[in-house]
Amino acid sequence: LLLSSVSLSQIGAVLKKLFEDNVVKREELFITSKLWCSDHDPQDVPEALNKTLQDLQLDYVDLYLIHWPVRVKKGSVGLKMEDLLPVDIPSTWKAMEALYDSGKARAIGVSNFSTKKLADLLELARVPPAVNQVECHPSWRQTKLRDFCKSKGVHLSAYSPLGSPGTTWLKSDVLKNPILNMVAEKLGKSPAQVALRWGLQMGHSVLPKSTNEGRIRENFDIFDWSIPDDLFVKFSEIEQARLVNGSFLVHETLSPYKSLEELWDGEI
Ligand code: A2P
Repeated sequence: LLLSSVSLSQIGAVLKKLFEDNVVKREELFITSKLWCSDHDPQDVPEALNKTLQDLQLDYVDLYLIHWPVRVKKGSVGLKMEDLLPVDIPSTWKAMEALYDSGKARAIGVSNFSTKKLADLLELARVPPAVNQVECHPSWRQTKLRDFCKSKGVHLSAYSPLGSPGTTWLKSDVLKNPILNMVAEKLGKSPAQVALRWGLQMGHSVLPKSTNEGRIRENFDIFDWSIPDDLFVKFSEIEQARLVNGSFLVHETLSPYKSLEELWDGEI
């Protein structure tokens, strides 16, 4: 989720009030933020986290991730083709490791990294990435990446675990999948709950977004039941397709990534 500095400072004000009123303690929350693509230069990395900490009125984040294996011009807004620059993950990662050493990021990791990009990083990392946060749901299982993460002790965390149904620029029908709906009907749960529970049973964490209190409660109600084996195996029949395929980052001449094949190292 891309939050501007204004909304981050609004969250910061809310967090401050919650801590002051003893509603929740800082150590009871797990707060993740991401290094945006315009801050990949090693000297910009600590500045970016400092700004985020200032906005959130926090001393540390629990996890700080490189948002994309993609770099854009400093000061540019969004991810525009004309702003793309070659990326140098080793030097960005060194700066991330320094944040880890400082304690301002209790853990560091990456997001949207293919198996190959993660493997390359693991080769040179002094502090290995704790997490790779990627698109993952029943219609994009990440089988290869999942096995690799497991073998290396990197935690896989799923964004868009519901297939981001409200996002206008994505054509998502993850929650409408007939197999998912059949399982939901059999278990007396909603398709969203089954998609999330499937994620937990696959062994990753799920990050569903909702602005609706009823749906937030619904999405939490996935811990005291499970999908039985005979239904769980049905998920392997679901056709696979990425939602966020990154085509907006790929161009034969303008982008360092000439093709989707290069961006995802074949995982498309
Ligand atoms: P809303 O905020 O109105 O609840 P994802 O986490 O995969 O990116 O999906 C986020 C989208 O899914 C949001 O548009 C959110 O809308 C919707 N959503 C969240 N929880 C549920 C649910 N339990 N059932 C249906 N849609 C949901």
